[in-house]
Amino acid sequence: MAKKIASARIGTESSELLKELNNSFPFDKVLYREDIEGSKAHAAMLAHQGIISNDDLSSITDGLNKILEEIESGSWKLKGDDEDIHMAIEGRLTSKIGDAGKRLHTARSRNDQVALDFRLFVQRQTKEISSLLVKLISTFVDIAKDHTDTLLPGMTHLQHAQPINFGYHMMAYASMFKRDYERFISSYDRNNFSPIGCAALAGTPHPIDRQMTASILGFKAPTLNCLDTVSDRDFALEILFNISTMMMHISRLSEELILWSSSEFRWITLSDRHSTGSSIMPQKKNPDIPELLRGKTGRVNGNLIALLTVMKGLPLAYNKDMQEDKEGVFDSVNTAKLSIMVLDEMLGQMTVNSSRMENACMVGHLSATDLADYLVKKVGMPFRDAYHIVGNVVNLAEEQGLDISELSLNDLQSIESRIQEDVMAVLNNRSSMNARTSEGGTATARTLEQIESMQTWMDSIK
Ligand code: ARG
Repeated sequence: MAKKIASARIGTESSELLKELNNSFPFDKVLYREDIEGSKAHAAMLAHQGIISNDDLSSITDGLNKILEEIESGSWKLKGDDEDIHMAIEGRLTSKIGDAGKRLHTARSRNDQVALDFRLFVQRQTKEISSLLVKLISTFVDIAKDHTDTLLPGMTHLQHAQPINFGYHMMAYASMFKRDYERFISSYDRNNFSPIGCAALAGTPHPIDRQMTASILGFKAPTLNCLDTVSDRDFALEILFNISTMMMHISRLSEELILWSSSEFRWITLSDRHSTGSSIMPQKKNPDIPELLRGKTGRVNGNLIALLTVMKGLPLAYNKDMQEDKEGVFDSVNTAKLSIMVLDEMLGQMTVNSSRMENACMVGHLSATDLADYLVKKVGMPFRDAYHIVGNVVNLAEEQGLDISELSLNDLQSIESRIQEDVMAVLNNRSSMNARTSEGGTATARTLEQIESMQTWMDSIK
């Protein structure tokens, strides 16, 4: 009976159930590019070090190139009984080129091979997600530029609090996604070290050159300690955490978009291209996209917790539990990329109903804090006293069914005689917004500053 390529001691054919449980080929086939690239770099290094011949190197390289072509053209469907992508490619290579194919695995184990392939994959996806984030940030900046004078009620506890402008609100999200971008990039830099050459766990007696493979594959350097390297899945946990945090931001925005597109608010209208209907209620236009984005956040959080849980009790070094690292990462990465793209497109095509936003500012006495600040500045009143006086003003406005900005000077003076004509400008919502000129504040001038600073940052990372 032919020996299974990775089972020198195992005589009988594996149980079908074992194969179903054990084989990762059905999902880790996604890593074929990384596996072929890693093998080519490893073979080049082996030949350079005189561990395999140059003839073997050229058969290996040609064979691997052909296999890549077969996969990409669809002539090899990446299906079959192989245990994983690594064994599948090695097996196919050996069936094409014979003994040279069997020499490829010198000074290498699947433990460092899978650590390499998966890390390369994660690094590449990190870069892809980062570029999508930059595009998303520029969409927020574009919307912000058009709305630095569009008033809306800023809220706390989902209650009207103080007037802000919509550009400022958009720049809050731009700032969140900038942090996400930076988090992805710092993970990239922290993990940009090459696992290959660590072999099973302890290194190898062959005279390999890990610097060479690291540099061929675009890593900064080889990793420091091989035992750690084959045991480490922090890079996978980091991309999962980074995606979860980013999706949490997307989810918070989605929640706002859902509220804002409801009849109660109608501050925005999602384009028909991004709305769905109801099967029974002909009038409905539903915000399914932001609802799904909010829902997908639960799913990526699950992937993060799953891998944290897989890893938490494992002794060093490789354990097969670690094969459970991949599907969650593949799923989170696909979810993240699709989510950013769909969000970006939807934001670019939504309508901002500026007048509805502005009208909403006439509810909730948004300039109450401004009146208190006026009394502090004008009359030298302690803030806490001013706060209580404004409480009485608000009660009066409520009795009359008005917003405090609509009260007459007489009414205001009936509560505090030192209030003068110049209060009217203070109570106006637009003045209130523009009065918040402290650094990072909402005043149009400060919002424009934030836009400019974000733009300078975007130029700096081009
Ligand atoms: N398919 C395995 C995984 O994804 C590859 C590593 C297997 N190594 C081993 N010693 N069994 O984790």
